[in-house]
Amino acid sequence: MAAFPSSWSMTRPYLFLLMIIATLSPPATADICSFWDSGCVDPLAQTAISFTFPPLFLETINFFYAFDADVRGKGQEPMTKAAFWIGYEPYVNNSVIDLNRTSEIAVRVGNLTGTPSGGNNGCDGVWGSECSKNMREFFQQTLFDLVTLGEPFSDPLSTVIGSFHTNPPVISNCPPQFFENQHFPVDQFGIEIDTNKTPIIKTTGSAISPWFSWFIDNMTASEQAEQVAVGIISRTPSYGSAPPSNKYGIGIELVCAQAPSPGSSGSDD
Ligand SMILES: *[C@@H]1O[C@H](CO)[C@@H](O)[C@H](O)[C@H]1NC(C)=O
Ligand SMILES: *[C@@H]1O[C@H](CO)[C@@H](O)[C@H](O)[C@H]1NC(C)=O
Ligand SMILES: *[C@@H]1O[C@H](CO)[C@@H](O)[C@H](O)[C@H]1NC(C)=O
Ligand SMILES: *[C@@H]1O[C@H](CO)[C@@H](O)[C@H](O)[C@H]1NC(C)=O
Repeated sequence: MAAFPSSWSMTRPYLFLLMIIATLSPPATADICSFWDSGCVDPLAQTAISFTFPPLFLETINFFYAFDADVRGKGQEPMTKAAFWIGYEPYVNNSVIDLNRTSEIAVRVGNLTGTPSGGNNGCDGVWGSECSKNMREFFQQTLFDLVTLGEPFSDPLSTVIGSFHTNPPVISNCPPQFFENQHFPVDQFGIEIDTNKTPIIKTTGSAISPWFSWFIDNMTASEQAEQVAVGIISRTPSYGSAPPSNKYGIGIELVCAQAPSPGSSGSDD
């Protein structure tokens, strides 16, 4: 799969899709999941990004992003179905469990193209290291503000992202409409209880059982292949727990993925 024609850059998404259909959807697995079934995804394209999320997780974590597409959708317009999940070995450092904490992941896809590469798990290549830094600090500050406010909340990342619907914030040096997305699903995947040194970690996902899937209107497969999926992973003190002394006590990791991943055929996973 290494040699591509010279028209590669122009026709790249199209070539990717043809190869993936040929390699990932043999007849035996072609109907593992119908397009309209939101409980699974039959990936037209899929990618995984490895990242670390210290100090709780001792091993690398894989962020998986996949999508399927339907040329007609509900009628005339094409539609895609995006899905994400995390794959990990749940080896954790129990010694760092000194508070009740909640870990969550939020994902957005749409109106953001680019090529994941470099620092911050590929995000620096999409929007530059300044944006990555500002975005991490923005989430750290916003979550810090929430936990120090004293108002009850259950899922902190979900709470702050939900609050952005009415008044989308703009982060300097970042894509201006980052928060003006139709869908910004958030899923909780870790609960730490101070008195119990074993955290409750969500079961690893898969295409048959993604953590979340959602439909995107008027998006073709080749358009979606150009989009960057952004994952925001957080670890925040739960309501009632002592807040950290400053925002850097909030764990934030960013991941940026494209399916299929740039420079690969997508068939080597
Ligand atoms: C686990 O956390 C403790 C407390 O922060 C630290 O001293 C220790 O080195 C960590 N262990 C590993 C394997 O990272
Ligand atoms: C992209 O932006 C437009 C204009 O703001 C918006 O209508 C559309 O819903 C956005 N797409 C997604 C997938 O969120
Ligand atoms: C679908 O997208 C195309 C191109 O992006 C746009 O011209 C068209 O107005 C959109 N249709 C709807 C129903 O949003
Ligand atoms: C931590 O969570 C446990 C279980 O939900 C709860 O009983 C305990 O009161 C919580 N601790 C704090 C400091 O909120």
